[in-house]
Amino acid sequence: MSSVFESVPQPPSVGAATAPAVPRRGGVGAALATADWWEHFYTSRQDTYWDWYLPNEIVLQVLQREARLQIRVQEPLASATDSETCAQHEEDREEHQRLQQLHAPQSPAHGQRWVAADSPEAAARLAALSTLQLGCGNSEVSALMWEAGWRSAHNVDFSPACIERMQQLQKEHHWITDAATAQAAGAAAAAAAACASAAASSADAIAACVSSGFVFSVADVRDLSRYPSDTFGLIFDKGTLDCVCLESEGDPRAAAVQTLREVWRCLRPGGASVCFSLYPPAARALLWAEALPEEQGGESAADLQQLAEALAADNPPTVMRTLAPWSELRMQALQRPPLEMPNQKHTYLYIAYKR
Ligand SMILES: C[S@@+](CC[C@H](N)C(=O)[O-])C[C@H]1O[C@@H](n2cnc3c(N)ncnc32)[C@H](O)[C@@H]1O
Repeated sequence: MSSVFESVPQPPSVGAATAPAVPRRGGVGAALATADWWEHFYTSRQDTYWDWYLPNEIVLQVLQREARLQIRVQEPLASATDSETCAQHEEDREEHQRLQQLHAPQSPAHGQRWVAADSPEAAARLAALSTLQLGCGNSEVSALMWEAGWRSAHNVDFSPACIERMQQLQKEHHWITDAATAQAAGAAAAAAAACASAAASSADAIAACVSSGFVFSVADVRDLSRYPSDTFGLIFDKGTLDCVCLESEGDPRAAAVQTLREVWRCLRPGGASVCFSLYPPAARALLWAEALPEEQGGESAADLQQLAEALAADNPPTVMRTLAPWSELRMQALQRPPLEMPNQKHTYLYIAYKR
């Protein structure tokens, strides 16, 4: 089997003008993967926010779309003005309907009915959606999620300086003031009540996750044992798994596989794992194949490896597969170069739903 890392593009460079002067071990890629490099990065930079790969609006749009599916909120109807917009809108709606059907049987919100986007129940459900951000960095996405209504989000990074900065920002920018915490608690109670009234089977799980709030903490994504299995409705990362794949200490492939397994374990059934990456689909398919739980491997892994070979030859813009233990794997080439790499054609989006 070819190496997962053979087709990986050059890792992002933070550029001479902006990167802290740190000793690099084995090149930029390897340096980016060490905890001390990142600690130095966050202690030596003064930016309020620093975002990798993509503008925040794009990331937030993807997260909101996945959140709507998780909490069963109907897609708001866009007002289409020209024919191109109409066609896109129609495609989006069909896609959303397809996904709604896909999620109906095993959604964590099983038993919940779909609600209108502008209803108070929709806001309460978003507040209660247990979400985990892996390697949050000092991305502005966290702040935007708060503004958009998330109230139960765990944001982890292995750099203590980064987490301290984000905790400070929370206070300075008043995302978490006493009033906001009280408001979050109110939303949580409303969400729990809404779940109970809809006789949701996962009401207990939702209530348990809701109680934890919008928090930043130090954790290594290779070991998420602090979180129980089947906990999160949404787990996402932008660039973090890429860094783990570049791990210079130990075995990077094993580290990436371990991280994917942890993500799978912590997702609840029906939950979505969202990853923004520089790695092309062939590399990702191989990683997914390796990360399949042992009892689920076998045919699925073989299928994924075949898929990886096909994708290596021809990278289609969106690929969907149904493979145990995932109900669906989506691989999408976003028509945008990463912010750091204008010469690269795509940034990739990977979404996997736990069966
Ligand atoms: C490329 S940056 C992306 C940061 C942020 N997600 C964004 O999009 O702006 C990767 C982040 O992952 C963190 N990271 C890398 N490896 C990690 C690991 N094993 N555990 C936790 N965080 C990690 C780094 O500290 C860094 O903040």
